Amino acid sequence: MKLTSARRISGRLELPGDKSISHRAALIAALASGSSEITNFSTARDCASTVACLRDLGASIEQTDERLIFAGGQKLGAPSRPLDCGNSGSTLRILAGVLAGHALTAELVGDESLSSRPMRRIIEPLELMGAEIESTDGRAPLKIHGSAKLTPINYKLPVASAQVKSAILFAGLNATGRTTVIETSPSRDHTERLFNGFGVPVTSHDDLSVVIDGPARLSGGRIAIPGDVSSAAYFVAAAMLLPGSDLTIEHVGLNPTRAAFLDVLRSWGAEISVTDVQSERYEPFGTINVRGGINRNASDTERTLSGALIPALIDELPLLAVVGSQIDGGIQIRDAAELRHKESDRLATTALNLRAMGAEVEEFADGLSVSGPTKLHGALIDSHSDHRIVMAFSVAALIAEGETQIAGSECVAISFPEFYALLDSLAVR
Ligand code: S3P
Repeated sequence: MKLTSARRISGRLELPGDKSISHRAALIAALASGSSEITNFSTARDCASTVACLRDLGASIEQTDERLIFAGGQKLGAPSRPLDCGNSGSTLRILAGVLAGHALTAELVGDESLSSRPMRRIIEPLELMGAEIESTDGRAPLKIHGSAKLTPINYKLPVASAQVKSAILFAGLNATGRTTVIETSPSRDHTERLFNGFGVPVTSHDDLSVVIDGPARLSGGRIAIPGDVSSAAYFVAAAMLLPGSDLTIEHVGLNPTRAAFLDVLRSWGAEISVTDVQSERYEPFGTINVRGGINRNASDTERTLSGALIPALIDELPLLAVVGSQIDGGIQIRDAAELRHKESDRLATTALNLRAMGAEVEEFADGLSVSGPTKLHGALIDSHSDHRIVMAFSVAALIAEGETQIAGSECVAISFPEFYALLDSLAVR
């Protein structure tokens, strides 16, 4: 993909359904006692991987352009071939939790990137609950030998991870007794909200421990998935960086464990308003408006992203590093070593590509320091086939002098197939 700068971003739009919520809604609908109808399901290739795996497990799913209909009241059965999770960490890790609670054997496989990512973080708790899991030195392929009667656990997560928390909560549906997951910092809570929304209480004693009593069966029902706030982030940032922009995104997810980047951008001087907040199965959504321009200087504290804030910004950090290169005094990201275990090593790929565009970047084991403000110039971007790197540097290209070429840009389809078409319709050249 070749990109040049834009003058501003302007328009009003709605986005396809949130990827994280869509994975969970599909898994819930496949396990539920009654039928379910999901509208505005994510168009991400990752979510298609989840649906394909569920079909291979025998779930009856009817799909049209507008909706997914799940028959409900079914039992998952042993698949006749390995379940292909593609590039999707959420599919592999959360489905492992589902399968741990079923008396069957299934193999989970993924592409090269997914096969290199750490899986001991789910193997350990799911084995403590009674599943048996074979792996290749802690990585996929994983062969899961599940059990319909798991043992509940009280488990402290070694890393803040919503995928691991969710795997344990899904397994907890088939455990006899109380399963407790304790987090060190709060991660996205879609599984908790949707379990509550579909009839299985998940309670939280404080912000860091979640509790589910099993065995329990989800009830099924209808859900309209809010637009993907992580996809919205690229357009919000582009609008902020281009003075004169005016962008409105309607029906977009506003879960506080996901939308924290809006507060960060505001603290860096963005003019962002949120209106018309409603909720669907406990998931808040509403309308975001952004007016272009950075209207103040941020303090040292506001320009440091670290600690408990990191899990709530996890997928937006490469983008925030790009925006940070335009902020007076630059920005720092710390406590984010987890970024090295995403679809690519996102600390390394962000530093590499920001430097290629002329920014000054220091890389630490757990973060980055990005100087600013720097006038970026067009460059050849090496995306390492990572969708979030492609989109973050497409935003950088809009404010850079000269042409930017992004290698491997087709991988945007992993989370946001419509990204370039929408960007084209919003960008005023
Ligand atoms: C996700 C959780 C995050 C995030 C990923 C989606 C989820 O990963 O990076 O894109 O849907 O639960 P971790 O839970 O591993 O941090």
